[in-house]
Amino acid sequence: MLNFHFYNPTRIAFGEGKISELDQLIPADARVLILFGGHSAKAHGTIDKVTNALGSRYSEEFGGIEANPTYETLMKAVAQIKENQLDFLLAVGGGSVIDGTKFVAAAVYEEGDPWDILLSQGAHIKRAVPYGAVLTLPATGSEMNSVSVISRTALKAKLHFASQWVFPQFSILDPTLSYTLPKHQLANGVVDAFTHIAEQYLTYHVDAKVQDRFAEGLLLTLIEIGPELLEKPHDYTLQANFMWTATLALNGLIGAGVPQDWATHMIGHEITALYGLDHAQTLAIILPAMLNERRQAKHEKLLQYAQRVWHITEGSDEERIDLAIQKTREFFERLGVKTHLSDYHIGLDAVDAIIAQLTSHNMLQLGEKSDVSLDISRRILTAAL
Ligand code: NZQ
Ligand code: ZN
Repeated sequence: MLNFHFYNPTRIAFGEGKISELDQLIPADARVLILFGGHSAKAHGTIDKVTNALGSRYSEEFGGIEANPTYETLMKAVAQIKENQLDFLLAVGGGSVIDGTKFVAAAVYEEGDPWDILLSQGAHIKRAVPYGAVLTLPATGSEMNSVSVISRTALKAKLHFASQWVFPQFSILDPTLSYTLPKHQLANGVVDAFTHIAEQYLTYHVDAKVQDRFAEGLLLTLIEIGPELLEKPHDYTLQANFMWTATLALNGLIGAGVPQDWATHMIGHEITALYGLDHAQTLAIILPAMLNERRQAKHEKLLQYAQRVWHITEGSDEERIDLAIQKTREFFERLGVKTHLSDYHIGLDAVDAIIAQLTSHNMLQLGEKSDVSLDISRRILTAAL
């Protein structure tokens, strides 16, 4: 096992009706900014529940945070906070709203150019406005981690930062809030969580037994409940299991003490920046091609994955790895998330464009051993066409 720090200060309030606990979770004298997305949080009554729970606290709203939240929009929230001296943020939404809130929380105190938060990947952050989250879409793990991914439309850039200052103080995980998710968003959530686990599990062997078993347990749970969840979005037990699985997939626990890859995510972010695909769609395209291309580097873990997750025990090593990758692809497709660039009408010319983006963002050596060169990324993209 590798050495590690594990630090996660986020309090989780899990279960139906937990929004009412906002009253205990937020200081009584807080001046609150409620941040949310397009229309779902208002349309489905979540904002009303939040406002009721806040009682007599002073609060304002900031709506309109897009899927793949943009710097341009978020800077308007920063201005509102400064102008009205707000001191507590409440994100109500999925990964985009929570990620956006992380950026806003840090940008309020940024003395230089706030975009530097992204360019320095969060290294210079020294404080942030405290905030909590009400999760409405299980997928990213943003509700219990310190990572944020922000897009800047004008630059066609989608970059990430991380800082211990931007962990949520608390997150409310009420599985009933996900009942209203359209099927494709649920499917996206399953694919995203699945890929988060793969990025931390399918690397090389360091004999981290419990991290491996945790990761396999989470993958098996997604495989077990994913397809059923799409058919029964109002099933509390399915939603509850899904929500907690997605949170555990990226709250630091399974990644502690093991190598981490993230090459699939880095290439995926460029595809979203250029072509606007949903985050999970990009992962469904890249992950199978990535695993196939890097089958030597990941040989031992792919065989373990084949056996323990997909119960493949017959055939040569290469045949078992082939089948495990094929089953991964079939799982995504069964959820309705397509796994080739051409399924999204993206052709060969995209390969050069994506490689140019990776180059300009210094993504020259990706992966758990920093050996995914641009040439290898090119091969992966070509295989994913
Ligand atoms: O905007 P509204 O109208 O609210 O609709 C949203 C949005 O269009 C809708 N939605 C959310 N909750 C709903 C709902 N619709 C009905 N009922 C509900 N309960 O869903 C749409 C997608 O929401 P979004 O927040 O964009 O999805 P997701 O949670 O998948 O977040 C994706 C973003 O997170 C980043 C991605 O790159 C992407 O920008 N990621 C963040 C990570 C992190 N912080 O650790 C890691 C991930 O790998 C990922 O990169
Ligand atoms: Zn992701």
